[in-house]
Amino acid sequence: MTLFDINPSAVAQVGRGELPFDEPGGAPVLARVAGNTLQATTDPARVAEAEHVVIVVGTPVDEHLNPEPQAVPKAVAAVAEHLRDGQLLILRSTLYPGVTAMVEKLVAGLGKDVDVAFCPERIAEGKAMTELFELPQIVAARTERAMERSAKLFRTLTSQIVPLAPEEAELAKLFTNTWRYIRFAIANQLYMIANDFGLDFERIRGAMAHDYPRAADLPGAGFAAGPCLLKDTMQLAAFNNNNFTLGHAAMMVNEGLPLYVVHRMEQRFDLGAMTVGILGMGFKAGSDDPRDSLSYKLKRILRFKAAEVLTTDPHVRSDVELVPLEEVLARADLLVIGTPHPAYAELEPRQPVVDIWDLYGKGVAV
Ligand SMILES: NC(=O)c1ccc[n+]([C@@H]2O[C@H](COP(=O)([O-])OP(=O)(O)OC[C@H]3O[C@@H](n4cnc5c(N)ncnc54)[C@H](O)[C@@H]3O)[C@@H](O)[C@H]2O)c1
Repeated sequence: MTLFDINPSAVAQVGRGELPFDEPGGAPVLARVAGNTLQATTDPARVAEAEHVVIVVGTPVDEHLNPEPQAVPKAVAAVAEHLRDGQLLILRSTLYPGVTAMVEKLVAGLGKDVDVAFCPERIAEGKAMTELFELPQIVAARTERAMERSAKLFRTLTSQIVPLAPEEAELAKLFTNTWRYIRFAIANQLYMIANDFGLDFERIRGAMAHDYPRAADLPGAGFAAGPCLLKDTMQLAAFNNNNFTLGHAAMMVNEGLPLYVVHRMEQRFDLGAMTVGILGMGFKAGSDDPRDSLSYKLKRILRFKAAEVLTTDPHVRSDVELVPLEEVLARADLLVIGTPHPAYAELEPRQPVVDIWDLYGKGVAV
């Protein structure tokens, strides 16, 4: 297997057998295969050697929340001269609806006999090494041959193949992330309602779910962030001509939560005279990925309001402003849990902690 990537430092790192990011269970596997059965390269010509070409480039929205439907077609176009008859091209990025058809058209225009399929990645970061083998795989293609070839390839990972039409699969992936994002928003809004009335959301949620399965799937409150949920909700909104009331409402609730938290903190503390420490900058517990983490929005707001803001994280490596946990615990007057990393669960800080995640089970956070 060959990994082709335009990022030379990531390629060099993978070539040395080092993961560029944390993924539990991934490091020993990479160490075993790197340089043996797995080659990493920046040379696009190597694409010609593959029978199956899997494309999984990023498909973010821009700073104005617009999708970039050309991201995947551009990546295909960049290697088009190296595609050859008999290959199966699998799109695995989360796609703006209609992009599979765009790529099919692009490939047809090359005059090469290349099959195209869309088989979305559905793993969650941090669970890849188990979910890759446990999750059913959605497989979508226009032709019987592309369907059969894709199903055969993914049967090496999982026993369950779920066939769909490409347009159905594009929506299935966006609906999945949007559904999750809206569920977090409902929890966050209910949390704010309870909190505003001085009531303990976690206690209420626990009572709701107690031997009552119809309420058991209400998530806890917390910063719903990261590189997928918001951007895929916004891709769906753009696809539906900006008509997505629930999706936009979910964004306002989830993206508004750091502002709500700081507003509540201002009511209780003299923030302007305090050093505030944020524990956790990754976008979710246990993750080293700071992309689109709401801890950074929290930091920006607190920088404006507090005397000083200190940030720490045991996993994130890419942030030069992080300081050691001990320094934050020693210097901060007030702590906020940005990310409920397991490492924080055992702490017994001397200062007040704003804990919307209820990591410490102490009820009303602020
Ligand atoms: N990260 C996840 O856990 C996850 C889960 C499910 C779905 N997805 C989807 O998978 C896709 C990729 O996500 P990601 O988080 O890995 O993105 P990423 O931006 O972290 O990684 C994409 C990689 O593609 C490389 N790249 C960009 N353009 C390229 C090109 N033209 N040719 C070759 N390589 C190129 C980049 O250098 C980078 O290494 C997105 O559509 C995302 O929504 C991601």
